[in-house]
Parts: sequence; structure tokens; C-alpha cells
Amino acid sequence: MKEVKIETTLEIYTDINELSSDIQVLMNAAIEARDTAYAPYSKFNVGAAILLDNNEVVIGNNQENACFPSGLCAERTAIYYAGAKYPKAKMLKMAITASSQNQITDKPIPPCGACRQAIAEYEIKQNQPIEIYFMGVKGKVVKSHSLTNLLPLLFESSVL
Ligand code: THU
Repeated sequence: MKEVKIETTLEIYTDINELSSDIQVLMNAAIEARDTAYAPYSKFNVGAAILLDNNEVVIGNNQENACFPSGLCAERTAIYYAGAKYPKAKMLKMAITASSQNQITDKPIPPCGACRQAIAEYEIKQNQPIEIYFMGVKGKVVKSHSLTNLLPLLFESSVL
């Protein structure tokens, strides 16, 4: 038996104001998307914005359904929209923000496991990392230099 240690490095920013201005713009697009999420059941709004290498910004937010599993997270709504609308563009950066309608979300909310798997697919497809930034409503913002950095032991297509 041998033990293996897996390490991840993240950057933590005090708040949105500490981000570079281009990321603030991207995060503001995610905030706008978050505030129009359709989340009547969980009362938890999430918004995502993706900057593409053609300079387009594609947004997404969570879309819920009375049949709960039929809903979709913000990150996947955004990334599938980007993949559908700009299939040749590379995805450079993604900003994510979440806001509970019941309490103040003052800590960074990372993408769920299913969204990490979905985002990782596009990193592999484009052979280039996607920077990920995530926050709540206020307070710290976390940056990961790539998605795979958030998803060790990734399941990917080479094994199929
Ligand atoms: N949600 C997202 O949009 N992204 C995530 O990464 C985690 C959860 C949404 C799904 C659901 O509409 C609500 O947040 C509560 O889980």
C-alpha cells in the first residue's frame, strides 16, 4: 500500500473589488444572471458567465422544474449554451455567484460535482484550461486556474 497525496492550489480574493477589472465585468454578468434565475423551489439562485476567445460573454442561471431532477444548474446552462452557440470558440474564464433567498450567502459557492464534470469536458475538448471564479453575494472570491484543479481523479473519455 502506498499513500498518494493530491493537492490543489486556489487563490482567495477578499472580495470582488480585489479582482482585475475584466473579471469584475464577468462577475457582474454572472450577478445579473443570478438575479433572474428561475429557482422557485430551492430559493437558491445561481448565475454563471463565460468569457470566450471571440470576446463573447455567454451567461446561464439555474432553471428549476416541478419535477426536480429536470432542472439544470447555472454552470451547465451556461456551458451548454456556449457549446451550442459558439461551437468553435474556446472558453477562457467562468464566473459563478450564488444567492440564497433565505439567508445572506457570504461565502464562495463552488460548482457542484456534475457541473465540474461538465466543465471538465470542455477543457479537454479545447485542450486549454478554463479559469473558474466563484463567490456568494459578498465576501471572498475563489479562483481556480482550471476546472480539473477542482476535480481530481477525473473520469474522461480516453477510457471508453
Ligand atoms: N445549483 C446550481 O445552479 N449550481 C451548482 O453548482 C449547485 C446548485 C442550483 C441547482 C438548484 O436549482 C439550486 O441551485 C439548489 O440546488
